[in-house]
Amino acid sequence: MKIFIDSAELDEIKKACEWGIIDGATTNPSLIKRAVDRRGGKISMEDYIIEILKTVPGPVSLEVIAVKADEMIEQARTLYRKFGPYGEVVIKIPINPSLGDDGLDFDGLKAIRQLSGEGIPVNCTLVMTPEQALLAAKAGAAYVSPFAGRIDDYIRTKMGIKFEKGDYFNYELLGIIREFRICKCLENLNSVAEAYRNGELAKVISETTDNGILSGVDLVAKVVKILRNYDFKTQVIASSIRNARQVREVAEVGVDIATLPFKVIEEMVKHYKTLEGMKRFMADVVPQYEEIFKK
Ligand code: E4P
Repeated sequence: MKIFIDSAELDEIKKACEWGIIDGATTNPSLIKRAVDRRGGKISMEDYIIEILKTVPGPVSLEVIAVKADEMIEQARTLYRKFGPYGEVVIKIPINPSLGDDGLDFDGLKAIRQLSGEGIPVNCTLVMTPEQALLAAKAGAAYVSPFAGRIDDYIRTKMGIKFEKGDYFNYELLGIIREFRICKCLENLNSVAEAYRNGELAKVISETTDNGILSGVDLVAKVVKILRNYDFKTQVIASSIRNARQVREVAEVGVDIATLPFKVIEEMVKHYKTLEGMKRFMADVVPQYEEIFKK
């Protein structure tokens, strides 16, 4: 599995690249805003992005900020022309840039089609369903980014569960609770047909899933499976990753890439027993062993 860093913070990007674990980077307007704010707005965005590109040994996703296909295509060409000479630029295009209440817009797909045809690699972003990923792959996206964390947020919020951004979503536990509630409902039903018709069962399932998606990791797993079924060249980037356990689980389902915030990379390297082990080893160093290093 490749690891991208999900950050626009140059200091973080430089540190992680020095550790030799980074294959690429992803940015978005919110991450750029944070980087600019942190420098009191005094920052030349162009120089800053060039620095990121020179640091990262692989693809760097930069996002367009328009919502109409023609404008997104123009912005993508501009980003590609300006920054292409400094590194491997990938353009992030939202699957569906609609801002209207109907949430229906095909301009993302149009832009993906056009840019891919011009040889500009696209990372299709804000993917929340396997169906969206399938459409993006059909349109020619080089990468699709299913947002695992935001799906976990959605399911937890729908259920009224309180959580912090980095909290692991225990969807296995939720699955057991779901089965238990289903069994309870079934106790009062007399036939299979009655069980199927019964609104209670459908309610339990709909409350605890997002239209059949059990969790963010399940979304990633389904996207990987579908794209592999049909041999798409499109690579899947597990995005919106919030904790180390999610990284393990998206690696288990064989995702191509996971894009990780710096904090998650820090969390991955830590374990209480590793720290304890280090302390014990250091306490046990005998002078004879120390001698070796003095010569
Ligand atoms: C990456 O490409 C996405 O923009 C990012 O992972 C979103 O993460 P968030 O849901 O934690 O904001």
